[in-house]
Amino acid sequence: MTPTSILREKEQASGDFFDGWAEGYEDRRISPWFQYTQTLAIDALDLKPESRALDVGCGTGFGVRTMALRVPDGRACGIDISPGMVEQACRRIPPELAGRVEIQHANSADIPYPDATFTHVMCTNSFHHYPEPVAVLREMQRVLVPGGRIVIFENAPDLSLYTRLWDLALRFYETGHVKYYTSRELREILEAAGLEQCELLALRNEFRSHGKLFASIQLWSARTPARGAA
Ligand SMILES: C[S@@+](CC[C@H](N)C(=O)[O-])C[C@H]1O[C@@H](n2cnc3c(N)ncnc32)[C@H](O)[C@@H]1O
Repeated sequence: MTPTSILREKEQASGDFFDGWAEGYEDRRISPWFQYTQTLAIDALDLKPESRALDVGCGTGFGVRTMALRVPDGRACGIDISPGMVEQACRRIPPELAGRVEIQHANSADIPYPDATFTHVMCTNSFHHYPEPVAVLREMQRVLVPGGRIVIFENAPDLSLYTRLWDLALRFYETGHVKYYTSRELREILEAAGLEQCELLALRNEFRSHGKLFASIQLWSARTPARGAA
C-alpha cells in the first residue's frame, strides 16, 4: 500500500465514523457546544454582505447556514468527507438561503473549487482529523483570494490534562482522529503552510458551557499572503 493510499484510508475512516453521527448530530446534548464554537469562528471571520465563504468539514451545515445569513449578496459553501453529513446538510438548507448555499461531498485535501474562489475559509472541530494538516492549509489557501482569511477552531491540549487524556482516548475510539495540536504546534503548522498574520484570538478553558462539562478553546485567524499563496 502506498503512503498516499494509507492517508486516503485514514480520511475515509473519518467519513465512515461521521456517517454514523450524521442524523442526530444537531440533536445531541453536545450539539449546543458545536454550534457555539462554530459561531465563535464565524464572528472571527468578520464577513461582509458580499463575502464568499467556505466551511471545510462542515458537518450538518449549521456553520454554512449561519454564514449564509451574514452574506446576503455573497455565497456560503461547505464540504465534508462524510456522505451522511452532506445529506443532512443539504436537507437542512431553508429555501430562502438555497440560492447562495452549496454543500459538496469532498475531502479537505482536494477542495473542489477553482483557485481564488473564496474570501473566507473556516474549519471548526475538524482540523484534528487531517493526516496532512500543512497540505490542507495550502489547499485552503489555493481556493482563497490573496489576503483572504482562514479561521480555525480546535481543542487545546496545552490547556489541560483533561484535553490531553481526551486526545489519547479519541485515538482509540474515534476512527479518523489524528491528534489535537497545542497552540504552539498549531502556530507552527499555520506558519509552515505560508500563512501570514497568524493570530491566536482565544485560548481558554470553559466549564459547564453550552452542554459541555469541560472544554478548551483554541481559535486562530490567519491570512493568505497578499500577493498569492506560498
Ligand atoms: C466534529 S465534526 C465538526 C462539524 C462542524 N464543523 C462543527 O464544528 O460542528 C467533524 C467533521 O469533519 C469532517 N471531516 C473529517 N475529515 C475530513 C476530511 N478529510 N475532509 C472533509 N471533512 C472531513 C467529518 O466528516 C465531520 O463532519
